[in-house]
Amino acid sequence: MSLVRRQVERMSAYVPGEQPKVAGLIKLNTNENPYPPSPKVLEALRGAIDGKLRLYPDPTSSALRAKLGKIHGFDPDEIVIGNGCDDILNLCVRAFCGECEKLAYFWPSYSLYPVLANIQGATQVELPLDENFQITAHPALLAKLGGVKLVFITQPNAPSGVWLQRVELQRVIEEAEGVVVIDEAYVDFAAEDCLDFAREYDNVIVARTFSKAFSFAGMRVGWAAGSRELIAALNKVKDSYNVSRLSQLGTEATLDEWDYFQGNVKKICATRERTVSALAKLGFFVYPSQTNFVFARPPSPVTAKQWFDGLRARKILVRWWDADRVRDFARVSIGTDQEMDRFLEATKEICQTD
Ligand SMILES: Cc1ncc(COP(=O)(O)O)c(C=O)c1O
Repeated sequence: MSLVRRQVERMSAYVPGEQPKVAGLIKLNTNENPYPPSPKVLEALRGAIDGKLRLYPDPTSSALRAKLGKIHGFDPDEIVIGNGCDDILNLCVRAFCGECEKLAYFWPSYSLYPVLANIQGATQVELPLDENFQITAHPALLAKLGGVKLVFITQPNAPSGVWLQRVELQRVIEEAEGVVVIDEAYVDFAAEDCLDFAREYDNVIVARTFSKAFSFAGMRVGWAAGSRELIAALNKVKDSYNVSRLSQLGTEATLDEWDYFQGNVKKICATRERTVSALAKLGFFVYPSQTNFVFARPPSPVTAKQWFDGLRARKILVRWWDADRVRDFARVSIGTDQEMDRFLEATKEICQTD
């Protein structure tokens, strides 16, 4: 008899983007920020490496919640801090969807959602995005929401980078009987956001991260806003000390450096638009992106796999999935201008020779 739960034995684990240690590699595969945290954030972190590290951190990251609440217009009790946004997503599954209950997510989207559902033993309901990777809230789709305890929506979507129409998303919220989690991991690169839905609807949670726009992927800090009732449930199931002392303090320092990070976001968005135009000139189809990555299909006869392999051979890593609806595309994180120049040169070479 196996010592492992049947559910866990049968499931596949989430596959993170590679983190190879190869010199000179251009890493455009995990949507990290190409710019470092601000010097003041690094200084604050260095200053906090002292004897206090023997003490546990504040279990509820109260100073950080208060600061975030002030910025975004929430009471601290309407905010929870996680060990990355992934922690928040995991807490939502644990708190809102039991074994054999229904968990829904739009597809294609973030491949962690089905993994979390599998761990929980939840019944998965796939909600297909339409041919433009948009939500079309037609009756057949809304009917699938019946009895669903938890719905994940990525806004803007990943891996497409597309901003989902708010009216359609709102119809899903209004139709859903359970909790709707809007995963806004990339929203800092978008023109709008959906935080107002978390204020307006008692069944909505908006989840965010410091990994992307705030250059803090290595520190693992995410947060979520929602009604007191939902946030209290997340607090019940979270690990007691889920965010380290340094992570809390560094994130507070990050919030004091708003202009620095907004400056980086602007640079990244400008580089994104330049990359989109250059790829379009080479004959690529690129979805309109509101994120720090682009999802692009190479011109025939070059396949996405050949493009991915060709880039890899030139020490440039992007992300490609051998899966329905996405295998003709590769997802490319936006790096520095210099990195994107190298990427575009390599892409040109591949399209000419492969
Ligand atoms: C859609 C989406 N949500 C959440 C996350 C996780 O973010 P974090 O690094 O805060 O765990 C990612 C990471 O790439 C993501 O793509």
